[in-house]
Amino acid sequence: MIQTIHLKKRPVGAPTLDNFELTESENNLSITDGEVLLETKYLSVDPYLRGRMSDAKSYVPPFEVGQPLNSGIIAEVIESKNENFKKGDFVRDRLDWKTLQISNGENLQKVDPDKAPLSAYLGIVGMTGLTAYLGLHEIGKPKKGETLIVSGAAGAVGSVVGQIGKILGLTVIGIAGSDEKVELLKSEFGFDRGINYKTTDDMKAAIKEAAPNGVDIYFDNVGGEISDAVLFSINKFARIINCGAISVYNNTETPTGVSVQPFLIKNSALMQGFIVSNYADKFPEAMQQLSKWLAEEKLTYRETIVKGFENTPQAFLDMMDGKKKGKMIVKV
Ligand SMILES: NC(=O)c1ccc[n+]([C@@H]2O[C@H](COP(=O)([O-])OP(=O)(O)OC[C@H]3O[C@@H](n4cnc5c(N)ncnc54)[C@H](OP(=O)(O)O)[C@@H]3O)[C@@H](O)[C@H]2O)c1
Repeated sequence: MIQTIHLKKRPVGAPTLDNFELTESENNLSITDGEVLLETKYLSVDPYLRGRMSDAKSYVPPFEVGQPLNSGIIAEVIESKNENFKKGDFVRDRLDWKTLQISNGENLQKVDPDKAPLSAYLGIVGMTGLTAYLGLHEIGKPKKGETLIVSGAAGAVGSVVGQIGKILGLTVIGIAGSDEKVELLKSEFGFDRGINYKTTDDMKAAIKEAAPNGVDIYFDNVGGEISDAVLFSINKFARIINCGAISVYNNTETPTGVSVQPFLIKNSALMQGFIVSNYADKFPEAMQQLSKWLAEEKLTYRETIVKGFENTPQAFLDMMDGKKKGKMIVKV
């Protein structure tokens, strides 16, 4: 039996389980020359999938209604007629939300379960780790002694950004959505200070207090009002990395906020949109450094693992709502 999760209808505002449909079909898959049969082991649920559920132009094409969703997946090769892969290999690719599927092997990357746990290839040694490393280095251009503030700090990307900031000798402040997460930032990820945006009435004042010398780098995972508040603390020549804007992904109207231009002009500051795939040429060097820090235990990571393929839509919704710590992953 093969299970598949389709986009049933496009969400308007916040997605719900009604936007997804699980179907079951007989397994009559058979591979031909050059192909491999893949069994899904781990699925990544990520905020960018929310954008793909809408019919709006973006940097990745939208999902089609009635068709399977897809995301980063770790799969096991269970049958192979492709000389590059053998039965028992583990591979990573952007694959359909199916328990079994055929691939021609073109974009499959082998992953080694002896070097890192398989799930980590969807997080710290995968797309989210690369996003943290490259966004911070390529746009943030961190210098020892500077102050870095990170929103979405207890999440997959944010928790890695903050730790890299500490390795590089920065003062690091994290913004997250619960006291427990703020505690985790300090106790597990080594952040200097944290702010719970859900219980703080005056974010501008809280940021000024947490960053008395001002903010040199803002790694922005959330956009919206939190990011507006950070602007009031930026220093001369500050760098703002627009990595994500999850706080407005469910908006049905174009969001409005403070005018950024005066802040950027007065501070000669840089604000730049970041898409990790634009830096593909830097992936090997970034991955080498992330793996080295991980092996040296300078970096750590958290995962929230949900069991059961059928729970993938709920895991996605919980990830969007912050009901998890670190990287949200589904184990089949
Ligand atoms: N540009 C790129 O190439 C790229 C690549 C990967 C990720 N991203 C972006 O980076 C961001 C983080 O991605 P991730 O995979 O690491 O996800 P994540 O942070 O692990 O999960 C999303 C988190 O966003 C927070 N959140 C949800 N609604 C919010 C709101 N209204 N205001 C503030 N925070 C809110 C929640 O944490 P709390 O409990 O703290 O609210 C939730 O846990 C996302 O915006 C994503 O789109 C961009």
